[in-house]
Amino acid sequence: MAWNNVLCMYYSRTGHTKRAMEEIAQALGAELVELRDGVDRTGWGGWLRCGVDATRKTVGPVKFQSRFPLTDYRMVIIGSPVWAGRCSSVVRGFLKQHGSELRNAAYVLTRGSENKSEKVFAQMDLYTPCGHWTAVSLRPGSVGYAFWQDVFLREVREFLEKS
Ligand SMILES: Cc1cc2nc3c(=O)[nH]c(=O)nc-3n(C[C@H](O)[C@H](O)[C@H](O)COP(=O)(O)O)c2cc1C
Repeated sequence: MAWNNVLCMYYSRTGHTKRAMEEIAQALGAELVELRDGVDRTGWGGWLRCGVDATRKTVGPVKFQSRFPLTDYRMVIIGSPVWAGRCSSVVRGFLKQHGSELRNAAYVLTRGSENKSEKVFAQMDLYTPCGHWTAVSLRPGSVGYAFWQDVFLREVREFLEKS
């Protein structure tokens, strides 16, 4: 079994969620995996498509390569950018297809505005019967970024010690 059995998965269009998840995976010594849906989301056209997909809750097949089946991980941490007050459609697609395979979950959102969009956590729970142990909404470049990321890491470590 890999490291301490934590799998970090993320979708990132412009790199913010990728960076946040790289930091978290490194701090936990966890495996890091990118989610892809094969859709071109670059440029203005891509931006629009993200907004439309998030609003309409459109999802397609999502690909990823983890070392072990999802059911083998003690915790899966899922990272998504906020799109139109929702999770990205790529992460929604992943959760729809695989949410029931997660034994324990935690969520990381990155966002561009002051609004934490914490209602997204409950939206993500609709696809994950296990719910989430903890969650954090990070705004890259903000004063509280490192603080809230640390709080999140502490809560994940608490879970790992307890379980
Ligand atoms: C289509 C679209 C909609 C967005 N909607 C929101 C939003 O509702 N609230 C917010 O705070 N940020 C919003 N953002 C900003 C992203 O959530 C933010 O820049 C995020 O950190 C990007 O992550 P990434 O670089 O991993 O793609 C939106 C971005 C896009 C592309």
